[in-house]
Amino acid sequence: MTEPTPAVRDRALSLPAAALPAYLYDLAALREHAREVRAALPGSVELYYAAKANPDREILAALAPYVDGYEVSSGGELTHVHEAVPGHPLAFGGPGKTPAEIVTALELGVRRFHVESVHELRMLAALTARTVPDARVAVLPRFNLPVPDGSLENSSLTMGGRPTPFGLDPAQADETVRLLTGAAYPQLDLVGVHAHLASGLEAAQQLAVARSVVGWATGLADRHGLRLSEVNVGGGMTVDYAGPRRRFDWAAYGEGLGELAGAHPDLTLRIEPGRALTAYCGWYATEVLDVKHSHGEEFAVVRGGTHHLRTPATKGHDQPCSVLPVDDWPHPWPRPAARQGLITLTGQLCTPKDVLARRVPAAGLRAGDRVAFSLAGAYAWNISHHDFLMHPRPGFHYLDGP
Ligand SMILES: Cc1ncc(COP(=O)(O)O)c(C=O)c1O
Repeated sequence: MTEPTPAVRDRALSLPAAALPAYLYDLAALREHAREVRAALPGSVELYYAAKANPDREILAALAPYVDGYEVSSGGELTHVHEAVPGHPLAFGGPGKTPAEIVTALELGVRRFHVESVHELRMLAALTARTVPDARVAVLPRFNLPVPDGSLENSSLTMGGRPTPFGLDPAQADETVRLLTGAAYPQLDLVGVHAHLASGLEAAQQLAVARSVVGWATGLADRHGLRLSEVNVGGGMTVDYAGPRRRFDWAAYGEGLGELAGAHPDLTLRIEPGRALTAYCGWYATEVLDVKHSHGEEFAVVRGGTHHLRTPATKGHDQPCSVLPVDDWPHPWPRPAARQGLITLTGQLCTPKDVLARRVPAAGLRAGDRVAFSLAGAYAWNISHHDFLMHPRPGFHYLDGP
C-alpha cells in the first residue's frame, strides 16, 4: 500500500464516479523529486529525461528546469517534445529510425543522434548532406557493450551485454570510428559513445555499468588517437514496485558519478532516466464496481483495468495501491464487501490477465470504495492497449497547487 499525496487523495475522492478512472499527476511532487535528483548529481553530469516513460506535455514542462535535455526515440516523440518544451536540447535515439524520421529531426534542428547501426550511420550522413548541407551533427554510436559480471543481474529489462537488436556490436567499433573520422562524412562529428544496457538497476550496479562504459569508451578513443567529449551511460534506475517507499539511491549514484567525472575531466557524462523520474508522480484512481467470492478467494472488480494501466501486466508485478473508503451507498440492496483479508483487484476486461494487484491486504473493501494505484506516472497509460473492449478512456488531471 502507498498513500496518495493530499492533492491526489482529494481529487480521487471528489471526482464523480462517472469521471473515474482517472490519472492524477501531482506536478508539485514531480518538481520536488526532480529537484532532489538534480541536487544529488554533480553539476557536470548532464541529465536528460527519456520521454518514452511519460511524454505528457505537463510532465515534460514540469521537468524542464531540472533537466539538460530530452532523449526521444521516434519521429512522433521528437515532434511532440520539440513542440511541448521548445528550445530544449534533444538527443534522437531508438532502433530502426526511418529516413523520414531522420529528415524530420534534422529539419527541426536536432543535432545529436544516438546511432544504432552502420547502415543508420550511412543513412544519417546522406540525409544530413541533402537536408542541412551546412550543419554539423554530433554522433554518439550506441554500443551493446559487455558489462562487469553480475551488474545486470536482477535487471527488469536487459537491452545489452547479450544478443539484442539494440545498438552496435562492439566488434564494429573500429569500423564505426573509421567511418566517422575519415573524409566520407564531413558533417558528422563523433563526439562520444552511448550505452543504455538495462532497466531496473540499483545504484551500485548502475555505477559498475557507468565505469565500464566510460572505460571502454576511453579505451576506444586511445586506440584511435581520438578525443571524445561525451559519454551517455543511459537510464534504467530502478523503481521498486514491491517496496514503493524506497527510491533509487541518487546520493550514492551521484557521488560515484562525481568520482568518475573527476577521473575524466574532459568528458561530459550524461544519464537519461525515464521511469525513476516520473513513476512516483502519477496515480490511477478508480472505483470498486463489485466484490466477488470465487472458489475460496475474493476479487474486487474496478472501473478500468490493465487497458489503462498495463504496467503490472507487462512487468508481472502487483501495482501498489491505497484504498480510499467511501461511506455513501446509494442502493437499497446490500453492499458487496470483502469478507477476507486479502483481495485481488481486477479490471473490466474479459480476460483473466486483467489483474492490477494480487492478494492486497484490504479487509472490508466494498463496492463504491475508491482505490488509488500509485507509481503510475511512467510506462502506464502510454504503454497500454487502450482500445481493447472499447471501454471509455480515463480522465487526466495535472494537479498543480491549491
Ligand atoms: C535508450 C534508452 N534510454 C533510456 C531509457 C529509459 O529507461 P528507464 O525508463 O528504465 O530509466 C530507455 C528505456 O527503454 C531506453 O531504451
